[in-house]
Amino acid sequence: MVSSIPLLFLLLLLHFTVPTHNFILEDDPSIYQPNGFFLPFESNLYVEITIGTPTRTFNLKLDSSTHLTYLECDSCDDDHQCSPSDTTKHYDGKSSNTFSPISCNNSSLCPNILSNNSTNHYNVTITKASLSLLCTPSDFCRYDVSSFSTGYLVSDTIQLTSSITDQENSLSIVHGFVFGCGTSNRAPPGEENSGVDGRVSLTTHRFSLLSQLRVIRFSHCLWPSSAGSRNFIRLGSVAEYGGDMMLVPMLDATESYSYHLTLFGISLEQERLRSNETSAIAIDIGTYYTHLETSLYEKVKEELMTQIGPMVAFEVDELMCFTTEVGLDIDSLPKLTLHFQGFNYTISNKGLYIRDSPTSLCMALVRSTMDDEEKNVLGASGLVDHAVGYDTSQRMLAFQQRDCLTDFVDGML
Ligand SMILES: *[C@@H]1O[C@H](CO)[C@@H](O)[C@H](O)[C@H]1NC(C)=O
Ligand SMILES: *[C@@H]1O[C@H](CO)[C@@H](O)[C@H](O)[C@H]1NC(C)=O
Ligand SMILES: *[C@@H]1O[C@H](CO)[C@@H](O)[C@H](O)[C@H]1NC(C)=O
Ligand SMILES: *[C@@H]1O[C@H](CO)[C@@H](O)[C@H](O)[C@H]1NC(C)=O
Ligand SMILES: *[C@@H]1O[C@H](CO)[C@@H](O)[C@H](O)[C@H]1NC(C)=O
Ligand SMILES: *[C@@H]1O[C@H](CO)[C@@H](O)[C@H](O)[C@H]1NC(C)=O
Ligand SMILES: *[C@@H]1O[C@H](CO)[C@@H](O)[C@H](O)[C@H]1NC(C)=O
Repeated sequence: MVSSIPLLFLLLLLHFTVPTHNFILEDDPSIYQPNGFFLPFESNLYVEITIGTPTRTFNLKLDSSTHLTYLECDSCDDDHQCSPSDTTKHYDGKSSNTFSPISCNNSSLCPNILSNNSTNHYNVTITKASLSLLCTPSDFCRYDVSSFSTGYLVSDTIQLTSSITDQENSLSIVHGFVFGCGTSNRAPPGEENSGVDGRVSLTTHRFSLLSQLRVIRFSHCLWPSSAGSRNFIRLGSVAEYGGDMMLVPMLDATESYSYHLTLFGISLEQERLRSNETSAIAIDIGTYYTHLETSLYEKVKEELMTQIGPMVAFEVDELMCFTTEVGLDIDSLPKLTLHFQGFNYTISNKGLYIRDSPTSLCMALVRSTMDDEEKNVLGASGLVDHAVGYDTSQRMLAFQQRDCLTDFVDGML
């Protein structure tokens, strides 16, 4: 019953509040969107975004660590050789009537340097390891810490389509949407030729998708990938936030992640693995595996081996794997809990353990390879079967354990 409220709420909003709450239409003719919007994505975290006039559709990966939405723009000419296996679509501003280049000599448009290092009230220092969105006087910009894409800032019309709201309210259009047109791109590790044309920014930066849609709340409830590929990000009024969800204050945003929490410790079942110091953990739907700093990862591994008894442990692609008896119930395996302020977050075993073969399982945990402060990341696999709501203005995250698929299907009835 509870789960049907969000859709009902959406229908009520569409019927009764649009006429009085469509402030966006009155204030800004560059945006047309319903108050609440379901943005569909595939299990590999790709959303379809339509850009330009005439329109073309691109697959962009959801990313909460890159401040700018970006697409690859280099054409395969003499200067930029594309390999025949490169399936990436390239955006070409010259063939869109609504395209404009953006010059970075205008300080009101130029991406500015974010705030200095800051310390939160648990004395976790957030340092500025590097600048992630920085343009030179010649208008060449770097968008993210790892510099997977660099290029120019441009603007064009974008359209987002929701497949689950009714026709009339299924389209969101932003004219003059600012994004990066990458002329020097390399795929992040593991994404070569995977059909991704770029990334869509879910940060709090003023050039993120959220900021340009004027949305301060969003939420997701990820179901295990075995349950079907299509899932949704809820934007605006349909975002799940508050009510009986647990609210946890976020740390200040850093250059590399927008959504961080203080991590007081971590437990495997009842066994507390770290209790005397605090650290930070980023919540990032754009990262698949959960990353732990090496010392913590080793403790989890050691404790897992203690709890599940002697068995053969091995590593596959950095994942910690182990043999099991045939037909072992994943739910019976040890559960991993992250201790947040006032709230213990238990990762669903459906996201924590991956079946590798009938007699082996792997834990969806990897050692962090980043050498700066962003060591711990709770990735998409660790977010399965929880509703997670973000309020970027109050800087709070809301959590609630759910069976996300059942919840969504019930919500549609
Ligand atoms: C910015 O650069 C463009 C060319 O890139 C030039 O036409 C324009 O006058 C410059 N504006 C300012 C304010 O310097
Ligand atoms: C900079 O861009 C803003 C927004 O487009 C515009 O209002 C302003 O006049 C521009 N300033 C200069 C110096 O070009
Ligand atoms: C950042 O630090 C520098 C000096 O360390 C200071 O001049 C500047 O005002 C600070 N900026 C912000 C946004 O706090
Ligand atoms: C954080 O540091 C300040 C100044 O060093 C100190 O007064 C405060 O008690 C510390 N807070 C915590 C939670 O340790
Ligand atoms: C920010 O933190 C880094 C690493 O701790 C330090 O090197 C740098 O001086 C700090 N910057 C400021 C403005 O405090
Ligand atoms: C935490 O405990 C470990 C030993 O269990 C010790 O080596 C370390 O110094 C402690 N850290 C703090 C901040 O007290
Ligand atoms: C979280 O778990 C710890 C045990 O590790 C317990 O002491 C604490 O009370 C729990 N907190 C909440 C809010 O349930």
